[in-house]
Amino acid sequence: MQAFAVAALSIWLCLGATTLAESLAQSHGPQHCTSPNMTGVLTVMALNGGEIKATGHYHYDTTDKKLRFTESDMHLNKSEHLEDYLMLFEEGVFYDIDLKNQSCRKMSLQSHAHALELPAGAVHQVELFLGSDTVQEENIKVNIWMGSVPETKGQYSVSTTVGDCLPLSTFYSTDSITLLFSNSQVVTEVKEPEVFSLPSFCEGLELEDTHNDFFSIFNTV
Ligand SMILES: *[C@@H]1O[C@H](CO)[C@@H](O)[C@H](O)[C@H]1NC(C)=O
Ligand SMILES: *[C@@H]1O[C@H](CO)[C@@H](O)[C@H](O)[C@H]1NC(C)=O
Ligand SMILES: *[C@@H]1O[C@H](CO)[C@@H](O)[C@H](O)[C@H]1NC(C)=O
Repeated sequence: MQAFAVAALSIWLCLGATTLAESLAQSHGPQHCTSPNMTGVLTVMALNGGEIKATGHYHYDTTDKKLRFTESDMHLNKSEHLEDYLMLFEEGVFYDIDLKNQSCRKMSLQSHAHALELPAGAVHQVELFLGSDTVQEENIKVNIWMGSVPETKGQYSVSTTVGDCLPLSTFYSTDSITLLFSNSQVVTEVKEPEVFSLPSFCEGLELEDTHNDFFSIFNTV
């Protein structure tokens, strides 16, 4: 699994370099872009306090805008409850799932913005190399985008790869929240689309209107 992710990353880096040459030749600013389907590891850090909020595997379906995030204790010494979320951005709802005791909550999502897709309205800032700009194996070419989420008054800055529009990291802040999301071990496909199916014990629940959005949810884990 890990070796496969690395292989996928290096193939993607080659593709990225080719696309870069093409886009420089055209000398247009890059257009807003859309993530591919992805499976990977999402890590969330709170910058005020420096703690890792959550880390875990996710699956993202870019066609139907569905995200499943399953927290794991891989970088944490977290023995209590691990979060499991199914977020349906088009419907504006998310499910807080507990497979162990088969309980579930259905809550509203205030905003479509999240860290695994460039939000609508993101404005391109600059194209730059992370790492060395002269040694080819020692760098990665990224686009930096900025914008705000109207519903939460949050500001964000996102870096995406040039080739495939893979979001690498997202910095998000409001008056009370400062979070850094980082996306690693990405494979650009979803091999288990069944993770997006609603567990039977989540069906027919009443929607709780809790004024949550993707970012505030990860701030409170
Ligand atoms: C994890 O936390 C528990 C209790 O908080 C502690 O007893 C244990 O030593 C910790 N384990 C590690 C590997 O830090
Ligand atoms: C199921 O787990 C949740 C979260 O840990 C807890 O709040 C709830 O009380 C549990 N329900 C049952 C029936 O054990
Ligand atoms: C993404 O994955 C879903 C299955 O979850 C599939 O239906 C869809 O066609 C895929 N989209 C792309 C662009 O590959």
